[in-house]
Amino acid sequence: TGMFTYDPGFLATASCESKITFIDGDQGLLYYRGYPIEQLAEHSDYLETCYLLLNGELPTPQQKADFDYMVMRHNMLHDQIHNFFRGFRRDAHPMAVMVGVVGALSAFYHDSLDINDPHHRKVAAFRLIAKVPTIAAQAYRYNKGLPLSYPKAGLSYAENFLHMMFSTPVSEYKVNPVLAKALDRIFILHADHEQNASTSTVRLSGSSGANPFACIAAGIACLWGPSHGGANEAVLKMLDEIGSVENVPAFMEGVKNKTHKLMGFGHRVYKNMDPRAAIMKQTCDEVLAELGLHNDPKFKLAMELEKIALNDPYFIERKLYPNVDFYSGIVLSAIGIPVSMFTPIFALARTVGWISHWTEMIADPGMKIGRPRQLYTGAGRRDYVQLSERK
Ligand code: CMC
Repeated sequence: TGMFTYDPGFLATASCESKITFIDGDQGLLYYRGYPIEQLAEHSDYLETCYLLLNGELPTPQQKADFDYMVMRHNMLHDQIHNFFRGFRRDAHPMAVMVGVVGALSAFYHDSLDINDPHHRKVAAFRLIAKVPTIAAQAYRYNKGLPLSYPKAGLSYAENFLHMMFSTPVSEYKVNPVLAKALDRIFILHADHEQNASTSTVRLSGSSGANPFACIAAGIACLWGPSHGGANEAVLKMLDEIGSVENVPAFMEGVKNKTHKLMGFGHRVYKNMDPRAAIMKQTCDEVLAELGLHNDPKFKLAMELEKIALNDPYFIERKLYPNVDFYSGIVLSAIGIPVSMFTPIFALARTVGWISHWTEMIADPGMKIGRPRQLYTGAGRRDYVQLSERK
C-alpha cells in the first residue's frame, strides 16, 4: 500500500489518545471515565454523568448542585433563534432542523468565544448540553404546529424534555416517573461511545480550530445516517414494514439473502452483547409493564425478532446481537415519542460526549489538524482537450 496504511472504515487505526471512554467489544465492557456503564445506569443521573464525562471525576454534592444550576440557567434559546425554525418547511425532518439550528448557534456564540480559554470551553459545553433538548423539542413542536414551549425550573433534565415536548398552554404534561427514569437511562447510555463516526467527525471538524457549535452540528449530520444514530428510527420502520408475526420467516429469508438488514442488530465494536442493550432490555420490560403494552402487536413482534435472531446460526456465526438502539426505539415508542424524534434524542444525549471529546482534543497541546491520506486510483496524467474537439 505504498507510503500509507490503507484502512478503509478505520478498522485498525486509533485516531487519537483519549481518557474518556473505554470499550472492550469482545467482552462487552463499557466504562465512562473508569465507571462501568451498568453502575452509572443504576445509580447516576444524566447530568451527573455529563459532569463525569466532561470533568473526569464524579461531582461532590456542591459541584453537582452548581452544575445542575448552570445547565438550567442556559436552557433557554435566544429569542431570535426561533426565527430559524420558521425558515423550515413544517414537514422537515427534525434532524435537518437540528443540524441547521445547532449550526446557527455558532452565529450567536462566535466572536466572544476563545477556544483556547478553558472557561470559555466550559461555557460552550454548558450552553450545548442545556440548549440541545430545547432545540429538539421545538423541532418537534414546529413540525406539529404547536406553539413553542419553554423549559421549566424544578424538573430533572429528562422530565424537562418531556415537558417541553408535550405540554401545551391548556394541558400540562404529567410526568410519569417510570418513563422519565427510562428516558434518563437512554440519555446515560447514549452519552458517549468513544471514536464512533459522529464523534470522529466532531474531532476532525474541531481539529481545524472551528467553532464548537458548528462542530457539533457536523456531528449531528453524521449521526443522522441509518447505520449510526438513525438505526433506532429504522428499527420502528422495519417493525411497521413487517407488520405481524406471520411475516417474520419471509423477512428473515430476505435478511439472509442480503436484501435487507435486521435493523438494531450488529455493531462494529461489540461482537458480544452490547452492555447498553442488556440494560435497555431490562428498562424496556419495565416500561412495557408500566404501560401494560406487553401484548401490543408491535412489541410482541419485536420480541419475536429478538428471539429468532438470538437462536439463528446466521446471527450467531456473525456475532450479531441486538444493539442498544433495538431496545431504545421500542422504549421511546412506548413512551409516545414519534419515530422521527428518536435520532434527535440520540443527538441530544450524545452532545455531552461530543463536547467532551472536543474539549479533550483542544486542551491537548500536541493537537494536530486531522488530515487522512488516500490511495489514488483515478486516471493517470492526461492532456486537456478543447470543448469543441470533444465528442
Ligand atoms: N442484519 C443482517 N446482517 C448483518 C447485519 C444486520 N443488522 N449487520 C451485519 N450483518 C452481516 C453483514 O452482511 C456481514 O455479513 P457477511 O460476513 O456475510 O458479508 C457481517 O454481518 C459483518 O457485518 P459488517 O457489515 O462487516 O459489520 P460492520 O462492523 O461494518 O457494521 C453495523 C456494523 C452496525 C453498521 C451493521 O451491523 C449494521 O448495519 N447494523 C444495522 C444498523 C444498526 O443497527 N446500527 C446501529 C449501530 S449501534 C448505534 C450506533 O453506533 O449509532
